[in-house]
Amino acid sequence: MKDLKKDFPILAQTIHGKALVYLDNSATTQKPKQVIKAITNYYEKDNANVHRGVHELSMRASIAYENAHETLAECIHADADEIIFTKGTTEGLNFLAEVLTENLQERDEILLTEMEHHSNFVPWQQIAKKRKLMIKIIPVKNYRLDLTKAKTLFTKKTKILSLTHMSNVLGTINPIKELGEIAHKNNTLVVVDAAQSVPHMPVNVKDLDCDFLVFSGHKMLGPTGIGVLYGKRKLLEKIKPYQYGGGMVQEVTLENASWQETPWKFEAGTPNIAGAIGLAAAANYLTEIGMRNIEAHTRELTTYALEQLKQIHGLTIIGPEDTKDRGPVISFTLHGIHPHDIGEILNQEGIAIRGGKHCAIPLMHALNIDGTNRISFHLYNTKKDIDILIKAIKKTKEIFQ
Ligand SMILES: Cc1ncc(COP(=O)(O)O)c(C=O)c1O
Repeated sequence: MKDLKKDFPILAQTIHGKALVYLDNSATTQKPKQVIKAITNYYEKDNANVHRGVHELSMRASIAYENAHETLAECIHADADEIIFTKGTTEGLNFLAEVLTENLQERDEILLTEMEHHSNFVPWQQIAKKRKLMIKIIPVKNYRLDLTKAKTLFTKKTKILSLTHMSNVLGTINPIKELGEIAHKNNTLVVVDAAQSVPHMPVNVKDLDCDFLVFSGHKMLGPTGIGVLYGKRKLLEKIKPYQYGGGMVQEVTLENASWQETPWKFEAGTPNIAGAIGLAAAANYLTEIGMRNIEAHTRELTTYALEQLKQIHGLTIIGPEDTKDRGPVISFTLHGIHPHDIGEILNQEGIAIRGGKHCAIPLMHALNIDGTNRISFHLYNTKKDIDILIKAIKKTKEIFQ
């Protein structure tokens, strides 16, 4: 893949006198000029509220906002009316935890996994307390889901399975189709946290046959504060709105109200119009390069990085050591050195990586570790970035010896 760094103005800077090497893409990605321009252009030329005015600017804003639903739908092979814009993955999962459990009975069960981000754990845990539901957990074995155990956890009471497509700590890609088939035979709804997968690989909701899928714009080169909740239309038609207000009602009397069709019934209030337009620009940018090409490029980087990292004495990879069913996220520990110290020394070298628990404390407990350092790639990263990283990790080791 050609070097795309020139499309990302932020990457041209130096940090502490060194060229910036950005390896914290699982946390958030950088934005190409095309996305920044789409947002600026919207505010400079088309800004108006959507669905409300008949004037030219409002029509332009409304068309751009509606087109953004279409663009994001194409990205995951859904229909435009199955795409609800949210603030991000976290809001999508809070939304689902609230509305999907509304009609459940006491002691009904929600099945999660040990490798969930807090976003896909705490909302279910808290709603379970409120509605007296049970949470069951699929354990992790050798950095992958224990499928044998998973199969034994489904019961007649299992109403929802919610799991991550790609772990933000381990990089593991989970067998959504396989677990989804078991779930559907059991009349269990399948929710997929695709925060890490949609930005990095082709995702087809029809092929996955999931019922709901959520992701965030900022992890796929788009702006913060915008994300997507996909739901199968027949299910969206059945569920109640999550929030109420302007833009989502059809009729309002003093006693009652009726709702617009999906997706509008789920988008109460003035939406993040600029965010949606920026996200559509990001999706177009990714599509133009091709998700398969992006996946192949970051897989090559992951293979290269794993090979180099494994040669560092005292370094342990926390995750699968090959690239089969794993994405471009690599966690590691370095014997005797705290992740924050490593992060700080690498920062002095201009390298941005993450250190800590990665919003996955239950997984840290299961693995019996305090935290990891994590590197994660996107399309603008190169082998040279990895070479710089490896050199800096070796230097860190020398400092602490
Ligand atoms: C797997 C996973 N799920 C959920 C989230 C939460 O995403 P957001 O903070 O954009 O809502 C993240 C963010 O790191 C993630 O990696």
